[in-house]
Amino acid sequence: MGEKLRLDRLVCSQKAGITRADVKKLCLKCRITVNGKLARRSDAHVDTDDEIIVDGERLVYKKHIYIMLNKPQGVVCSTKEGQSRTVLDLVPSELMRKGLFPAGRLDKDTEGFVLLTDDGDLAHKMLSPKSHVPKTYSVRLEKPWEESYKQIMAEGMTIDGGEKCLPAEFEGSPENDCECTLVLHEGKFHQVKRMFKILGNEVVFLKRTAIGEMPLDPYLPVGSCLEIMHKDVEKLLTH
Ligand code: URA
Repeated sequence: MGEKLRLDRLVCSQKAGITRADVKKLCLKCRITVNGKLARRSDAHVDTDDEIIVDGERLVYKKHIYIMLNKPQGVVCSTKEGQSRTVLDLVPSELMRKGLFPAGRLDKDTEGFVLLTDDGDLAHKMLSPKSHVPKTYSVRLEKPWEESYKQIMAEGMTIDGGEKCLPAEFEGSPENDCECTLVLHEGKFHQVKRMFKILGNEVVFLKRTAIGEMPLDPYLPVGSCLEIMHKDVEKLLTH
């Protein structure tokens, strides 16, 4: 047994851009069935496990949605419409829901893994400073990295304004002396860029490649979304 909900509320919670008035009309036009029977009333209570078919399409109830977006440069992590395109503009209609938001921010010029969800509790757990969920970044620097970076970052750097960072894991690429990987356990404003700046270097390209133990799907094209299966969601919180 699932949860009991009004049919109109249930349908609206799963499909963006559909109102309760629309659900009422669909019922009147005999376009919704519940467990094989025509749904006459949109205010009837149904079970979230019921077989609900809207216009021939089975609606599988999910309390929350979790989307992996490979954010391109030039797109902002915001829900507000402004002059720039937002991450929500990249969500295909079949994944779009009311209340979807980016859990955490990447800079406009940063690429990579952004989690979009309507699950405020999970977002809070992932972003809370106490959670220390690791975020992995692939970094291209203006100048070659130096061996000393590893220890300096492992000790916890102090960046501009006297902000103290948690220990971070730096790994220089053996193949390219301007490329490296950095794992942070927090998310201060422009943190990666500010950490390298203190070391006299400059970030020229930044991409987030993992959140917790979940890597960005290497086959997910930049600008595309992928629904994360519920069984995998815990990986976003694990160390
Ligand atoms: N650190 C940065 O400097 N920018 C980001 O977008 C993420 C981490």
